[in-house]
Amino acid sequence: MERVRFAVYGVGPVGSLITRYGLEKDWMELVGAFDIDPLKIGRDVGEVIGLSEKIGVVVEKPSIDVLRTIKPDIVLHATGSFLDKVYEQILDAVRAGSDIISTCETLSYPYYRYPELASRLDLEAKKNNSTILGVGINPGFLLDLLPAVLTTPCIKVEKVTARRVIDASKRRESFRRKIGLGLDQLTFNEKIERGELTAHVGYAESVYLLADALHLKIDSVYEKQDAITADREIKIENMVIQHGSVRGIRGYGVGLIRGREVIRVEFTAIAGAEEEFEEIIIDGAPRIAWRSIGGTPGDLATSAVVLNYVPIVLDSDPGLAIVTRLRAPSYCSSYQGV
Ligand SMILES: NC(=O)c1ccc[n+]([C@@H]2O[C@H](COP(=O)([O-])OP(=O)(O)OC[C@H]3O[C@@H](n4cnc5c(N)ncnc54)[C@H](OP(=O)(O)O)[C@@H]3O)[C@@H](O)[C@H]2O)c1
Repeated sequence: MERVRFAVYGVGPVGSLITRYGLEKDWMELVGAFDIDPLKIGRDVGEVIGLSEKIGVVVEKPSIDVLRTIKPDIVLHATGSFLDKVYEQILDAVRAGSDIISTCETLSYPYYRYPELASRLDLEAKKNNSTILGVGINPGFLLDLLPAVLTTPCIKVEKVTARRVIDASKRRESFRRKIGLGLDQLTFNEKIERGELTAHVGYAESVYLLADALHLKIDSVYEKQDAITADREIKIENMVIQHGSVRGIRGYGVGLIRGREVIRVEFTAIAGAEEEFEEIIIDGAPRIAWRSIGGTPGDLATSAVVLNYVPIVLDSDPGLAIVTRLRAPSYCSSYQGV
């Protein structure tokens, strides 16, 4: 069996999980690892991701020449949320002739925020026989593809609502930082204003993905999110959130047709959440209500989503893809090779 030769681009918390679980797949073989962090460059990737053994692959500074030399079948990319910032990184993988899956949230439906970059990526991908996909747990699955699939038994759909509540204290440190956990409200607002904090990225992307799956021609989409402040002192692992400081975020994205809300996605990340869950309500015929028990661990699940999409992306036509235009995903236990 030919194993899938993969490289990881960005060995942060998410890239580390992708690497760790990718190494466990007997149908995959790690052939490269890239990061810009000087503390990681030059070290064995096994050591960088906290394994007890060396893997024999050293973390390198990103380089198209190295990528062209090792020519992975697929690059698994996890460095940033905004396509304009990661565009050149994605192009490097494409120009090396590799397929690429990225956790970049705005790449999951790139035609909304970056239509120009999306068409350039599509052209480059087709020229280089490469497939590009942006995907993760959210956006990419829980609040878009999953609700879309749940509408399959409906003869009529009037509105889809998908919500997710997670305990922010259980998430990776970079996520906690991203949502400004523990900051005072003023600093949170200033950092959001200056773009130093993004909080969750991808409400609109989920709305557009869901609309794409249902072939809904939505007229407008808007999104909004706010801080949730602590109404008491809250002690979580390694930190104390003072009364009045940021305990989490709550946001939503909405899709409208002639002023009527047809899609609503909501995401709440709060430290010490009483309950974690996903909930999907489809107002239609029949009405469908689905709810998960205990929620979905986002970091682990993102690495799983990325790895389970590997065979799908490898088998897909070249170009820029979105999850709603690819075959239905599932857990993948083996792959016959490229
Ligand atoms: N779609 C989804 O469901 C989903 C789920 C989880 C995460 N994400 C996204 O996935 C991305 C990765 O998450 P994370 O928590 O691992 O982020 P992170 O903590 O920022 O780690 C990113 C890693 O990539 C490195 N890096 C930054 N720029 C690079 C470049 N140009 N070339 C190579 N490496 C570079 C960083 O190095 P430095 O630390 O030196 O900058 C760091 O080691 C984030 O944007 C996150 O929002 C999406």
